[in-house]
Amino acid sequence: MVSNTEQILVAGATGGVGQLVVAKLLAKDLKVCALTRTRAKAESMFDQQVKIIEGDIRHANTLARVTNGISYIICCTGTTAFPSLRWDFANLFQPANSPAAVDAEGVKNLVAAAPEDLKRFVFVSSCGVLRKDEFPYNILNAFGVLDAKLKGEEAIAASNLPYTIIRPARLIDGPYTSYDLNTLLRAKTDGKKAVKIESGDRLNGETSRIDVANACVEALFYDTTINKDFSIINAEDRDHPTQWSELFATL
Ligand SMILES: NC(=O)c1ccc[n+]([C@@H]2O[C@H](COP(=O)([O-])OP(=O)(O)OC[C@H]3O[C@@H](n4cnc5c(N)ncnc54)[C@H](OP(=O)(O)O)[C@@H]3O)[C@@H](O)[C@H]2O)c1
Repeated sequence: MVSNTEQILVAGATGGVGQLVVAKLLAKDLKVCALTRTRAKAESMFDQQVKIIEGDIRHANTLARVTNGISYIICCTGTTAFPSLRWDFANLFQPANSPAAVDAEGVKNLVAAAPEDLKRFVFVSSCGVLRKDEFPYNILNAFGVLDAKLKGEEAIAASNLPYTIIRPARLIDGPYTSYDLNTLLRAKTDGKKAVKIESGDRLNGETSRIDVANACVEALFYDTTINKDFSIINAEDRDHPTQWSELFATL
């Protein structure tokens, strides 16, 4: 059980899911360290409520001090699935912040930097990592994002750290930080959709960023999520509050 003396590192804290994870942790009165590449951005977002640590998961040398004293890591980092400015095309032929650099190498670096006594490494991956040849995942993987997410997952599973791997489908609900159709349409659930989870990688659909963030945080409170991987989507209309203990017990 997480206590409010333990520090939780949120990597990708300035992202859509990351911001919601930070908010949820603070609402539970837990101690948050936000890992960011841009201190000023995080400072303006979190208004001195969290400890801010600068680091870039692509560069292992920036991570050693970052993970000092950390009991939990929630990793919500990512870049776009398709080429965009986020890939950092300073070198046209070898984008510096591609999925291979962030979701594979970066996650490996974060795993390697994690303290040996880490209590949990929660990773936001993606539906489709085990179905890369099936539509629509074959399209999504055109530039290797699912290959890279799977490499990140494999590094975590091979690490001996207790982990939880969460695989959302297409993200909906804000903060709208991506460059995709759902962002363009401001697609949302209005909090009305129930959460469905299932072990492995068989679900398809859409997933609220709010529910992904809730799953990341709630997972820390349940041993039933230790060393588990699961997909998460929104399904039928919600008729009662999400019962995470019941959902996690099915894994
Ligand atoms: N969009 C979808 O439909 C979809 C579907 C399934 C899974 N996912 C996954 O869900 C996760 C959350 O999505 P999202 O929309 O919330 O992501 P997002 O808003 O794009 O946030 C990505 C975060 O990663 C950080 N980041 C990027 N490169 C980094 C690096 N080299 N070192 C450290 N931090 C770095 C960014 O920080 P900066 O502020 O420094 O840029 C940002 O905080 C991502 O892992 C994504 O791959 C997305």
